[in-house]
Amino acid sequence: MKKLEYKVDVFTGIRPSGGLHIANVMGSVNTIVTLQKKKEIGRPMVFVADLHALTDAEPKDTQKNVIEVVKDYIALGLDPKNCDIFIQSELIEEISELNMYLSRLITVSELLRVPTLKEKIKKNMEVSNASVLLAMYPIMMASDILLQKSKYVPVGKDQQAHIEIARYLAKKFNKAYGETIPVPNILTLGSPSSIKSISGEGKMSKTNPGGAILLDDPIDISLGKIKKAQTAFAGEMTDSLDSLIKIGKFVANEDEKIKIEDIVNRHMSGENVMGEFKQTLSIAMERYLKDFQEKKSELNDLEILEIVKKGRELAKENAKQTIKEVRKAMQFE
Ligand code: TRP
Repeated sequence: MKKLEYKVDVFTGIRPSGGLHIANVMGSVNTIVTLQKKKEIGRPMVFVADLHALTDAEPKDTQKNVIEVVKDYIALGLDPKNCDIFIQSELIEEISELNMYLSRLITVSELLRVPTLKEKIKKNMEVSNASVLLAMYPIMMASDILLQKSKYVPVGKDQQAHIEIARYLAKKFNKAYGETIPVPNILTLGSPSSIKSISGEGKMSKTNPGGAILLDDPIDISLGKIKKAQTAFAGEMTDSLDSLIKIGKFVANEDEKIKIEDIVNRHMSGENVMGEFKQTLSIAMERYLKDFQEKKSELNDLEILEIVKKGRELAKENAKQTIKEVRKAMQFE
């Protein structure tokens, strides 16, 4: 078998939904930033998945969030010197073309079995109003990944089934047309931290802003939410408190981390220390948010446009090359 070469070490997509909250940062953003800092796995390529929005029933104004989300990631530690960033819609031709070829390698019923689609249909959607593009979403993701000949795709549990499909499609393509596309690998990064809403109901989510620390909010508002956050009775550990402690440790400096550990120990032995805990959390959070907002405000649009232009050149070049090889394998050229 011919040995196929990968072109991108670590590849991942981010949703331009706008307005990150702290649980987003602790989950996906931090994963990418940490991977980049470690450098063991290689240079990351990150793209803003703006075509994602096409699968929504209602059109959304995504484009204004595209620059915004790149700024968010850079302000949170993604270093544009050590990674490539591009916008997905810049590759619409290549993605569409590969979508078409890959689509013939998977059946309608296989797509309908994808857990993320099944869940959507169970929760808030009927097959009768799910668009074909929504069902094709995993194919689109496969195109993103395979066009770049990506080696590793770091994803949370919710996205794993999608990467399995990308692997499946790469293998099927190679089997049908000869070894062409290297099969990507899933990079599992432990279980994703599921941070609860700090007001006590469900997961932290933008749809329940009262329980979410939003990075762009005026800092006072976030500190007010911490004041009212759900904790636990002395001696008790609840999911809410556990989440709050994780948040605290995430935004804390070394001294504050030690302090939080100590407070938690005292709490578990029955002392009333939740006021003290919230105070420490507030101080750490205030500094964290200030730092983020300052860094973000220092970034200007032109600078970001320059970064994604550079990213586009590389991503486009990779994608064009892959399409060329794919066409050749299919005997179109
Ligand atoms: N589906 C991913 C999400 O919702 C975003 C995404 C699109 C992606 N294409 C990708 C992630 C390819 C990794 C690789 O977060």
